[in-house]
Amino acid sequence: MDFDIKTNEKGNLSIGGADAVELSEKYDTPLYVIDEEKIRENYKRVYGAFSAQYKDFKIFYACKANTNLAVMRILEQEGSGIDAVSPGEIYTALLAGFEPERVLYTGNNATDKELKFAVDSGVIINLDSVSALHRLTKICNPNEVKISFRINPKVGAGHHEHCITGGYLSKFGIMEEEAVEVYQRAANMGYNIVGIHTHIGSGILDPEPFMLAVETLMDVAGRVHQETNIDLEFIDFGGGLGIPYTLEDSKLDIETFSREITDLYKSKLNEYDLGKPTMCIEPGRYIVGDASILLTRVNTIKQSYRKFAGVDAGFNTLLRPSMYGSYHHIVAVNKPDAKNTQTIDIAGNICESGDLFARDRPMPEIEEGDILAIFNAGAYAFSMSSQYNSRPKTMEVLVNNGKSEVIRERETFADVLAKQNVPVRLLK
Ligand code: LLP
Repeated sequence: MDFDIKTNEKGNLSIGGADAVELSEKYDTPLYVIDEEKIRENYKRVYGAFSAQYKDFKIFYACKANTNLAVMRILEQEGSGIDAVSPGEIYTALLAGFEPERVLYTGNNATDKELKFAVDSGVIINLDSVSALHRLTKICNPNEVKISFRINPKVGAGHHEHCITGGYLSKFGIMEEEAVEVYQRAANMGYNIVGIHTHIGSGILDPEPFMLAVETLMDVAGRVHQETNIDLEFIDFGGGLGIPYTLEDSKLDIETFSREITDLYKSKLNEYDLGKPTMCIEPGRYIVGDASILLTRVNTIKQSYRKFAGVDAGFNTLLRPSMYGSYHHIVAVNKPDAKNTQTIDIAGNICESGDLFARDRPMPEIEEGDILAIFNAGAYAFSMSSQYNSRPKTMEVLVNNGKSEVIRERETFADVLAKQNVPVRLLK
């Protein structure tokens, strides 16, 4: 098994030095618990591995994975940049203390208004289409704007079809064949062109497609440089680094992965005389995914045609199992090491049959009142949560050295109802 399940002297699950049973009693459930040290460790591991091979290396944390301001502050302190995909994420990054030049905005199907927001914020704008280039030109002074382009290198990968963002079916990026012409056009318009980018998908544990994308992007960068004379300041290979979710998954060997990428990078820099641009990646999941658990209480044990454990979270709280069929490991926090004695379905509290955290999951005996911990709930968990079924969004706490702090209050019905207006005629 390639992820940590830590227990304390009481035999309870422990996270960031805090007792998960005590956290559930103190804050109630459902509850996201985020381990600060784990985020820092993950960041340092990936930064350390790549920068040891190539000094001028930068991480743009893909904040769509987790936009909590405290998480963003931690990564700001670690020296990260931000990959932002919307005005809201740009705003959040600036609020979290990132200078605009540390933010790369990769919109897709961005409106003119969104592009203007990015220009006014002073962030680097990574363009996803020729249309965006032309529309941007109408609303800015090109020589005041730093841009790059997202290239579709015809290769994609990811843990689920929905998470593959390169290849012939993908809506993202511009075709590699049009890159030279588009860079030339942007240069003629007077833009400050600083980089080139790709992102082929999410949840990649097999380095092969990633390496192929690196190779293609480097060849495109080489052609762009040789045919247009543009000096690229950065080359960005996107995110996608996977983490183990099942007990059988193994960790990405980050040392080997970073070495293979940087070796290829350096040889391509030489081949095309590209100088020494900054090498960038944009991990989201790898940095925050395993740093959080979701605590949820079993309130109903039901023997129907199947056996169910019903809990107080649902796909409004954690969508991944319902949306992608994703496996998230689950343990009972008061007996994380207990032997499995049954298989059971673990179902949420949303009025849909697809609201299941697990089907036929081997588990020890569980009773009503038990607290379950759902692992790997740091990435694309809270950030994809909703108020479906008029359920207020849940609370997030940060743990560090055994201490816990609330970093997001639990929503109330007032939050669910906020922003609605009832026309007065309907009040009569
Ligand atoms: N850069 C860009 C341009 C992206 O679109 C993404 C993710 C990333 C970086 C970071 O990818 P990561 O390192 O986290 O794999 N909701 C899905 C994942 C969607 C990812 C979207 N883009 C999930 O829960 O698995």
